[in-house]
Amino acid sequence: MYGCSLYLFFLLIGMEYLDARRKPYNVGKVIFGLVLIALCVFVLKQSPGFGDNSVFSRREPGVTHVLVTGGAGYIGSHAALRLLKDNYRVTIVDNLSRGNMGAVKVLQELFPQPGRLQFIFADLGDQKSVNKIFAENAFDAVMHFAAVAYVGESTMEPLRYYHNITSNTLLVLEAMAFHGVKTLIYSSTCATYGEPEKMPITEATPQFPINPYGKAKKMAEDIILDFSKRTDMAVMILRYFNVIGSDPEGRLGEAPRPELREHGRISGACFDAALGVISGLKVKGTDYPTADGTCIRDYIDVTDLVDAHVKAFNKAEPGKVGIYNVGTGRGRSVKEFVDACKKATGIDIKIEYLNRRPGDYAEVYSDPTKINKELNWTAQYTDLKESLSIAWRWQKSHPHGYGANQI
Ligand SMILES: NC(=O)c1ccc[n+]([C@@H]2O[C@H](COP(=O)([O-])OP(=O)(O)OC[C@H]3O[C@@H](n4cnc5c(N)ncnc54)[C@H](O)[C@@H]3O)[C@@H](O)[C@H]2O)c1
Ligand SMILES: *[C@@H]1O[C@H](CO)[C@@H](O)[C@H](O)[C@H]1NC(C)=O
Ligand SMILES: *[C@@H]1O[C@H](CO)[C@@H](O)[C@H](O)[C@H]1NC(C)=O
Ligand SMILES: *[C@@H]1O[C@H](CO)[C@@H](O)[C@H](O)[C@H]1NC(C)=O
Repeated sequence: MYGCSLYLFFLLIGMEYLDARRKPYNVGKVIFGLVLIALCVFVLKQSPGFGDNSVFSRREPGVTHVLVTGGAGYIGSHAALRLLKDNYRVTIVDNLSRGNMGAVKVLQELFPQPGRLQFIFADLGDQKSVNKIFAENAFDAVMHFAAVAYVGESTMEPLRYYHNITSNTLLVLEAMAFHGVKTLIYSSTCATYGEPEKMPITEATPQFPINPYGKAKKMAEDIILDFSKRTDMAVMILRYFNVIGSDPEGRLGEAPRPELREHGRISGACFDAALGVISGLKVKGTDYPTADGTCIRDYIDVTDLVDAHVKAFNKAEPGKVGIYNVGTGRGRSVKEFVDACKKATGIDIKIEYLNRRPGDYAEVYSDPTKINKELNWTAQYTDLKESLSIAWRWQKSHPHGYGANQI
């Protein structure tokens, strides 16, 4: 709009010059005016945003436009990279409360062509901005990654979790319904299962989450499920297990805010220990009823995870909901993980064995039969050491994440 009114302004000035055409000594001024108009149009066309907007607001045959919320974050940025590689048109919405502008810049440099990638800085908790985004863009689908996602933090700040997970998902869903966006791929988690009696976890395992993070995600799932019964929206809910790894080509990595390190996940802690940022790794609990006494988890590589998103999207059907666990189906103990981390980094990380952390359960791993069968998806990156080596390469070459002013 701003571009257009500027354009008009210069056009009017040009007209005045044209009016004075009968006076021959004004010919020079007329030409000057026309040159000004041309210059103005040229400059505006070069500036990002001009014309771009119309591309993202138009449906184009053969082009699928995906809104990636939380696309500046760890998983969202990897998903956006994969979508762009597969020729999707991508709009990232993120308020950078946790993500990295540096990740968005990497993507922008890889896909600078007009109409490929657009970044919108906005808060998904702000209904007005969410509505504006949906009104101004023609999305075919939403992959909703944006959230806060630390179990420990969720027990300390529950409202932050219900607000930024449950309530924000409701806002996104309302905007999708209002603007007729037909497909939703939702990021859920194995934390919605709580502490099931039986392993492995199937999609039919009852969900009894035991922390605000898991509960907020379960509530968001319930809202989506109830709504889906009344619409023809195509929905896929993916329940991820523990996500690790990074882009095998080393373009993206995981770079959480330094202040979130204390809540951090095991792979982050492993790299921090290897980098010397922290003195060593604390293994919490060695007396669990598992083979080596440490907890067992299912580690899923982010490359496999985003592949599951693309496959889920391709199989999404109007009026149907697909719910899938995304894990390898293999549990690994914390000891195994630590050994793999030592091998991947080549550093003899100091390990400290401590008492159990409250709220941790002994064993969690998925049964991926359903997603194998229905989406023809199988985890490919199942070598822990290999996944960690890839992630370590990025960490080592980016000791300060995406850089001081790109967090
Ligand atoms: N990392 C895991 O192991 C894991 C496991 C299971 C599920 N998940 C889910 O995957 C999704 C992505 O997780 P991640 O690990 O990439 O986290 P992340 O913190 O790296 O990314 C989340 C992104 O969302 C953005 N965001 C948060 N609140 C926002 C708001 N109100 N408005 C706009 N943007 C906002 C943040 O800035 C950040 O970029 C989350 O929904 C998470 O619950 C992650
Ligand atoms: C991001 O969104 C949250 C609400 O979810 C808000 O409280 C926070 O201030 C926002 N941060 C920025 C940088 O806009
Ligand atoms: C989440 O919501 C709370 C309000 O409960 C807000 O203060 C916070 O900034 C929000 N955003 C994030 C990323 O935590
Ligand atoms: C399943 O995926 C594999 C590759 O991952 C492919 O070779 C095979 O053709 C696929 N099967 C179906 C039924 O699409």
